[in-house]
Amino acid sequence: MPRMRLDKLLAHLNCGSRKEVQAMIRAGRVAVDGAVLADPAAKVDPDTAQVALDGQAQTYRAQRYYMLNKPAGVITASRDERHDTVLGLFPENMRRGLFAVGRLDKDTEGLLIITDDGALSHALMSPARHVSKIYEAEVDGTLAPDAAERFRTGLTLRDGTVCLPALLEVLSQQDGKARVRVTLREGKYHQVKRMIAAVGGTVVGLRRVQLGGLRLDPALSAGAFRELTGEELKQLRDGKENRG
Ligand code: URA
Repeated sequence: MPRMRLDKLLAHLNCGSRKEVQAMIRAGRVAVDGAVLADPAAKVDPDTAQVALDGQAQTYRAQRYYMLNKPAGVITASRDERHDTVLGLFPENMRRGLFAVGRLDKDTEGLLIITDDGALSHALMSPARHVSKIYEAEVDGTLAPDAAERFRTGLTLRDGTVCLPALLEVLSQQDGKARVRVTLREGKYHQVKRMIAAVGGTVVGLRRVQLGGLRLDPALSAGAFRELTGEELKQLRDGKENRG
């Protein structure tokens, strides 16, 4: 990769706007290969330079990967005339080229990956790869006693659509209300809501907590996002979860 101005590289690393990072560099807060570099115009090799801001190593990625805790009430779209969108949760200067991997319903919360990496998105959403997705749902109604078994063997929806085998775990059930965890290996339209409806319940709250090997960071509040760590990106790519 050709050499790049230090201020441009830091802006690419999402350390701040071009103006902000220039001030940080001039203030002596930025080190390259272990030595403070106070010239915003200094040229560095983005592939090899070890850049640190306030002593924290910054890694350059050609592509961007964010974990968003989608709140209810926003639609999974880049822009929309009438509704707030998930991309609207990002500052305007960050939005260019970003899109959501897959789709959550407007009223669904939880883990959504926002990236500019079309190949990764395609791989994660490919029906042939059966990437797992885990949801937690609040349910009204009493689930059929054989609900978990019907999920396990491939449930038939009310419209006749047959689902792949899935896992239904009833976390609690009392007084006509239940909390369940559902693991799917496909992504049909309103799938969790339709599967729960087929076994006698109504989903009144839905949240995705895991995609492939990547779990939603419980410290991320609704509407907040952060960059994926290198380890999380690996978990997403190879589908394996690091349970620490
Ligand atoms: N299943 C649903 O019903 N809705 C979602 O948003 C995701 C999975």
